[in-house]
Amino acid sequence: MKDRLNIAVIGTGRMGSVHVRNLVRSIPEANLVALCDIRLDVAQALADELGISRVVADYHELLADPSIPAVLIATSTDTHWFIVRDAAQAGKHIFCEKPLALDLPSIDIALAAVEEAGVKLQVGFNRRFDPSFRHVRDIVASGTIGRPCILRIASRDPEPPSVEYARASGGMYLDMTIHDFDMARFLVGEVEEVYAMGSVLVAPWLAEADDVDTDIVTLRFADGTLGVIDNSRQAVYGYDQRLEVFCSAGIAKADNKAVDTVVCGDTSGMHGALPPRFFMQRYPDTYVNEVRSFVDCVSHDTLPQVTGKDGRLSVVLGYAAEKSRHENRPVRLSEI
Ligand SMILES: NC(=O)c1ccc[n+]([C@@H]2O[C@H](COP(=O)([O-])OP(=O)(O)OC[C@H]3O[C@@H](n4cnc5c(N)ncnc54)[C@H](O)[C@@H]3O)[C@@H](O)[C@H]2O)c1
Repeated sequence: MKDRLNIAVIGTGRMGSVHVRNLVRSIPEANLVALCDIRLDVAQALADELGISRVVADYHELLADPSIPAVLIATSTDTHWFIVRDAAQAGKHIFCEKPLALDLPSIDIALAAVEEAGVKLQVGFNRRFDPSFRHVRDIVASGTIGRPCILRIASRDPEPPSVEYARASGGMYLDMTIHDFDMARFLVGEVEEVYAMGSVLVAPWLAEADDVDTDIVTLRFADGTLGVIDNSRQAVYGYDQRLEVFCSAGIAKADNKAVDTVVCGDTSGMHGALPPRFFMQRYPDTYVNEVRSFVDCVSHDTLPQVTGKDGRLSVVLGYAAEKSRHENRPVRLSEI
């Protein structure tokens, strides 16, 4: 194919390897030319499997190569901000996994470099690229069911993480609810105030990290719409992902996807399939769609569908929720 976009992937762990496989198998508009990971053996094994010839341990080598106009960053969260900064300063267009960083000063340094270089930055909020959620958004945005009044998002993981994971990832609000904060903004618009409550009910070890395993966050949007997000780290029946926007003239909602649609009846009841196990099974198409969208926006010089501002605001919402939980009061975003 003509005019394929040369791209390199930095970070080839759990998420990076998904992007690498998608780029090779499902995104012909891109030409994956190199992989980078400080664990060279991990990147090398993936490159061997997929026939990628160039593998490096130091991402600066890729940034110095003028034949690579774009990079996808899927390294550990604490490295995102400085790799984004360095990539922008090298003139590369950037796709970066969420979150951009766990603190706002680091995000601001990265975003300033992106702004100054005039490169594109897309943040990995993949759920915006889920066809069902996007359909809900389109219905709401069309105005055909009136104005939004109540947003509800239920987002529950199958099993709790370790305390080490909780510490490194920034905890419930910055690691997990961050997706729901972004979805709330995607579906309804800007949030003005949050009120968060959290409990440790199923994973007592998370208390050691001052984290929670169960939370409810209520939202007040700038236009007066109200919202509620509920999260749990332990839904024993699978990855529970549902949302609805209740409007003045109707409702739009997306239910869980079942693994299949078979219903089996017997004397104890009617039995159907469980939801998919976790995010890799629930959202595989979103990871393809988001990177294809990034490649398209670089190739056709359009705006990314998820911007650096979106990446920053999701972290602001995470901080507001954390502050609200600790101070047991509603917190306005302007306080952060
Ligand atoms: N959007 C989603 O649904 C989703 C899902 C999972 C993870 N993530 C995000 O993806 C990122 C990676 O998560 P993961 O689960 O793949 O972690 P991981 O630990 O499996 O992979 C991270 C990789 O980055 C490499 N790395 C770290 N520092 C590096 C550096 N300076 N240069 C090159 N390589 C470096 C590590 O060696 C590792 O292989 C995280 O920020 C996480 O929040 C997003």
